[in-house]
Amino acid sequence: MSQSTTRRLPDSPEGIAVAAQIWADGGLVAMPTETVYGLGADARNDTAVARIYAAKGRPAFNPLIVHVPDLAAAEAYCVFNDDARRLADAFWPGALTLVLPLRTGSGVSKLVTAGLETLAVRVPDHPLARDALRAFGGPIAAPSANPSGRISPTTADHVLAGLDRRIDAVIDGGPCPVGVESTIVRCVGQPALLRAGGIPVEALAPCLGQALEQGTDPDMPQAPGQLASHYAPQGTVRLNVTEPEPDEVLLGFGPVPAALNLSPSGDLVEAASQLFACLHALDAMGAKRIAVSPIPQTGLGLAINDRLRRAAADRPT
Ligand code: TXA
Ligand code: MG
Repeated sequence: MSQSTTRRLPDSPEGIAVAAQIWADGGLVAMPTETVYGLGADARNDTAVARIYAAKGRPAFNPLIVHVPDLAAAEAYCVFNDDARRLADAFWPGALTLVLPLRTGSGVSKLVTAGLETLAVRVPDHPLARDALRAFGGPIAAPSANPSGRISPTTADHVLAGLDRRIDAVIDGGPCPVGVESTIVRCVGQPALLRAGGIPVEALAPCLGQALEQGTDPDMPQAPGQLASHYAPQGTVRLNVTEPEPDEVLLGFGPVPAALNLSPSGDLVEAASQLFACLHALDAMGAKRIAVSPIPQTGLGLAINDRLRRAAADRPT
């Protein structure tokens, strides 16, 4: 479906009602969550879900995360074990996605699960997202609202920069507070971390009473290089740089002289919230060669470094 224009809907009961109606009609509406903007469609409607892939230009049918307003709604679509319940109690609503066995007769489109027997589900901690989900009254499949391989959006302007005319609407809820995608944990047998994200991994083990296994990263390719440049800005990216070359634009972290700084005070939470906005800003500046300050491998630093490594991955020009 090619749209003539993409509507920018206000953060208001009227805006939410329009979004819910577009979803009910099988259309695409991007919505803010606390992590990044998601490109939402009715998860039970094959055509609507297919439009997500088309709008993003996704090279493959990666499975999508289903968003629901609360735990009770999540239980309609998948089966919770004790680990999953503990994590949901501790971190929902929030930046945690659980991969769980799909419930028989859930009605979720196979395009959402990519034919898997499991479903990724999340209760977002953003008032606007939860109001929109309640108004719609069904499950919303939503990958990050960016063209495939580009930077995840943390403002409505980012969404429109990538997807204008390819989606029906975006609800403008301002910048996303967390700024990196959710942490993904699979709770089928031994709990396993699939993606580092907005909930620091260190917070998960105490809640489970055991360490997490390292699962296969869902975004990491079976064939090397395939999806490695997932988060790429236009310029090349060099990591862990303390002395940038004269022709490099420095993306700083901590007290360094830099054109752009993720967090001058060295705060990883602030850095995560600024990450994608800074990568977008580097694109807007036309930065050809980007150098990035070292970022510690703790807490949200894991997710930030993971995204930056992908941004730095070799890719076709
Ligand atoms: O914060 C977020 O998670 C954002 C917001 C919009 O909620 N969404 C997001 O979606 O990042 P997306 O599609 O960009 O990433 C979803 C990830 C993919 O890496 C996908 O492979 C994984 O979730 N995934 C989805 N279903 C899965 C499943 N059944 N098993 C394993 N991985 C799954
Ligand atoms: Mg994404």
